[in-house]
Amino acid sequence: MQEKKWKLVLSKVSRDYTGNGNEEPVNVLNNLNLKVEEGEFISIVGPSGCGKSTLLDLLAGLSQPSSGEILVDGQPTSETAVRCGMVQQGYALFPWLTVRENVEFPLSLRNVPKEERRQISQRELRKVFMEGYEDRYPDELSGGMRQRVAIARALASDPPFLLMDEPFAALDPETRATLQDELLHITSTTNKTIIFVTHDVFEAAALADRVVVMKANPGTFREVVDVTVPWPRSIATLRDLPELREITNYIGKLIHREQPAAYEEEISDLAVI
Ligand SMILES: Nc1ncnc2c1ncn2[C@@H]1O[C@H](COP(=O)(O)OP(=O)(O)OP(=O)(O)O)[C@@H](O)[C@H]1O
Ligand SMILES: [Mg+2]
Repeated sequence: MQEKKWKLVLSKVSRDYTGNGNEEPVNVLNNLNLKVEEGEFISIVGPSGCGKSTLLDLLAGLSQPSSGEILVDGQPTSETAVRCGMVQQGYALFPWLTVRENVEFPLSLRNVPKEERRQISQRELRKVFMEGYEDRYPDELSGGMRQRVAIARALASDPPFLLMDEPFAALDPETRATLQDELLHITSTTNKTIIFVTHDVFEAAALADRVVVMKANPGTFREVVDVTVPWPRSIATLRDLPELREITNYIGKLIHREQPAAYEEEISDLAVI
């Protein structure tokens, strides 16, 4: 039998943050193990502060594990630059570049000719409904608009490995649903491996092959849930699919088990209504 082609392998990965002074190091991520196949879509959910963004930084090679190993395409992230697209939480754009220049920036690093760069940026900005804003600067845009530019920038370089940290958090529901459909389309038609962080359990399950549910203090993988809904998928049909609802209910319970206080509050809110 042919060996599976692992895009990403995490073995016993831990990450500590050391304080500035004489503070004890804080163990943020503890003993993470996961294998991701090429072309898989993995969602990550878990309470605030459980280490999701910390994990994405590790996957991008922006920081290194305190112990354990991360292999991307069989290579340790410390030894080769990880070739990935990334939408960071807070949609970090370059404030001194226009919308168009932001989207074209990764392409210019790769010496893509100007004409082609222009075509790609037009196409990706159209997909995120940002046509007409090409010459604006980030501080002239709303949060949701900035987020869409960051998504266009990540998609423009057509990366085989895409890391997205709450990319749709600031979007209105309609734009969000359209971009979720765009991601479903990308997943069905390309072989990209996508790691997607979200607080929205429906979004996590709707888009993913598997959902990694994390718990906090220290951040660990509580459970990896298979989303057994066939592809291709569309957001409109997924909303009413009993099979998906069952999976999201299950994931919701796993997360709430981590936040009993918050859950109680939610229930008492409901009781008031
Ligand atoms: N540079 C840093 N130095 C020290 N501690 C840090 C640093 N960055 C993050 N942390 C701590 O690591 C933990 C995990 O943070 P992280 O941002 O990864 O969480 P998260 O799961 O992405 O949360 P959220 O859902 O709110 O985005 C938090 O307790 C945070 O305070
Ligand atoms: Mg985060």
